[in-house]
Amino acid sequence: MATRKLLLLPGDGIGPEAMAEVKKLIGMMNADFNAGFETEEGLVGGSAYDAHGQSISDADMAKALAADATLFGAVGGPKWDGVPYEVRPEAGLLRLRKEMELFANLRPAICYPALAASSSLKPDVVEGLDILIVRELTGGVYFGEPKEIIDLGNGQKRGIDTQVYDTFEIERISGVAFELARTRSNKVCSMEKHNVMKSGVLWKEVVAQTHKAKYSDVELTHMLADAGGMQLVRWPKQFDVIVTDNLFGDMLSDVAAMLTGSLGMLPSASLGAPDAKTGTRRALYEPVHGSAPDISGKGIANPIAMIASFAMCLRYSFNMVEEADRLEKAIAAVLDDGLRTRDIMSDGATEVGTGAMGDAVLAKYRALS
Ligand code: NAD
Ligand code: IPM
Ligand code: MN
Repeated sequence: MATRKLLLLPGDGIGPEAMAEVKKLIGMMNADFNAGFETEEGLVGGSAYDAHGQSISDADMAKALAADATLFGAVGGPKWDGVPYEVRPEAGLLRLRKEMELFANLRPAICYPALAASSSLKPDVVEGLDILIVRELTGGVYFGEPKEIIDLGNGQKRGIDTQVYDTFEIERISGVAFELARTRSNKVCSMEKHNVMKSGVLWKEVVAQTHKAKYSDVELTHMLADAGGMQLVRWPKQFDVIVTDNLFGDMLSDVAAMLTGSLGMLPSASLGAPDAKTGTRRALYEPVHGSAPDISGKGIANPIAMIASFAMCLRYSFNMVEEADRLEKAIAAVLDDGLRTRDIMSDGATEVGTGAMGDAVLAKYRALS
């Protein structure tokens, strides 16, 4: 079995707590069927800042660039509120995304049958929900220049962020969305705000051109992003794949998370372009949630978003499709058995902590083998 090089970046807050559950799974897969995972660990976020004053070191960045895949926990927290902007914990994650050129962030929002009652929406609105948000991840207002606060000299300051998109960036992210739609229900809805943003005008135009040139078999619709947010909570099952920019994708995926019952349920895969020769791509797998300072250290965080991110890693980086399917089935089965972390707790269910939830998924995975 070839070696599979995995870099683990647990980060801060509940990041290490959730990552611990994935480490158990990796150990089990190595022991049970010689999966060949070779793991290395690095520091990112506040924990990296505390160790060496940077939110990710050059050495750990180099490890991420060399790994077959990277698993990321979460970064941030009030402890680092006062650190300089350039080295704040979140900067480590943004550097990883930018330097690894992870332009495509896949955020699937699946409502597991057992959790239909855990959503803040009515069960019939979310039952059977399976949508995929394809978020552009290396462009837009996150990275556009200028990005600064300038002193206007009259007692006023000006904060500036710049939203920028070039044709190639919109083409490649919409290509990913169309390709994925072909493997699902063959529908893409593109969300922007062409009514107020020039980048939105270009976004809509390029998505439509890409569709016409290469993907006219896929059903394409366009929606203003604010209306998209409304439609996501009104009737989310109208969507299959949603493609949108970096900031809208960030916000819409947190909205989508609540359709599934909790932010603690949403995994994601951040992917680069496939290498022309080998077909391999750089990838970082990161739950959608953050470091959850309000619950960290209590052993109650939901590890499912992290575990499901590992399932995405098995699927997209290692082509271990059967194992990924089995892990996702194990998650569903554990929920069917009535086990719940606090964030998804409901009447009649059994509340468990982070470790017990991880153990239950692992045991179920083995039972399904
Ligand atoms: P958050 O996602 O950390 O938490 C939002 C709410 O969801 C909290 O009430 C939290 O307890 C709950 N929650 C999140 N994940 C959960 C889980 N796995 N199980 C149970 N409950 C969970 O967002 P926030 O509070 O806005 O941000 C906290 C910090 O995290 C900030 O510093 C922010 O910048 C950072 N952040 C990091 C990432 C990341 O590392 N990818 C993502 C989002 C936010
Ligand atoms: C996310 C987070 C990040 C983002 C932050 C922590 C930089 O909210 O992954 O959704 O805004 O992209
Ligand atoms: Mn976010």
